[in-house]
Amino acid sequence: MTRTVYVNGDYLPETDAKISIFDRGFLMADAVYEVTSVLDGKLIDFAGHMTRLHRSLSELDMDAPVTDAELEAIHRELINRNDLTEGGIYLQVTRGAADRDFVFPENATPSLVLFTQAKPIIDAPAARTGIRVISIPDIRWGRRDIKTVQLLAPSLGKMQAKKAGCDDAWQIEDGYVTEGTSNNAYIVDEHGTLITRDLSNAILHGITRAAVLRYAREHQVRVEERSFTIEEAKNAAEAFITSASTFVMPVVEIDGTKIGAGEPGPTAKRLREIYIEESLKAAV
Ligand code: PDD
Repeated sequence: MTRTVYVNGDYLPETDAKISIFDRGFLMADAVYEVTSVLDGKLIDFAGHMTRLHRSLSELDMDAPVTDAELEAIHRELINRNDLTEGGIYLQVTRGAADRDFVFPENATPSLVLFTQAKPIIDAPAARTGIRVISIPDIRWGRRDIKTVQLLAPSLGKMQAKKAGCDDAWQIEDGYVTEGTSNNAYIVDEHGTLITRDLSNAILHGITRAAVLRYAREHQVRVEERSFTIEEAKNAAEAFITSASTFVMPVVEIDGTKIGAGEPGPTAKRLREIYIEESLKAAV
């Protein structure tokens, strides 16, 4: 199927969409992105993704190419044109095209690209079995709170996991887990307390994370936002990850060590159900 994608004001067949070779997103990863999930043809936590997009843009002194209302309209148009019921919409803003130079160009026009990806999220097979992760050193830069398209380190991490016969990797810095390659990381201790790293420049401030922590607190789950080691994780009762593309996804094994009973734990399963139910209610 040929998708219809959006590039700088135009809706085009994906095969006709083009970006300049001088685009700084291409040359320098001078670009930020968002992935918004779609359920029942509706956007999940769109406002949260827009807030984070603006923060990423302003941290890099980059202009928004269009208004939020226009961005929402483009998301909807792509959902309609591609008959998307479940999956995600990828959005990327780059600083635009200019002759190659490390210094930011004075008057570049930002580029805006969006496309859809159809994918089952609610009935993802991995949600039933849980995923297995390895731990790897966190080799990324120091501003992981900005959602840039510099994704080579996470790609290498996922490849390492794949070679090890696993699904993903948790990244370690100074002995502590930062986050997954493309998701936030959580453990649940023997008292049922949910533990996830506190917000800082060391991790992406996940939109799913914010929602899941809110729902957890509303449902009387104790939450501790603090760093934890991989050893603490291996001895935890449960582990899981969150992201817009996986929601709450149980982790059943870390570096070959079974977590708890080695199957999706009750807290992860419950939070996944709550997250899906509440997200569907609030979807726009
Ligand atoms: N990844 N941490 C990292 C490093 C991420 O790349 C992501 C998202 C998250 C979770 O953020 P959110 O809940 O807002 O999706 C945490 C997206 C989905 C991706 O790159 O495909």
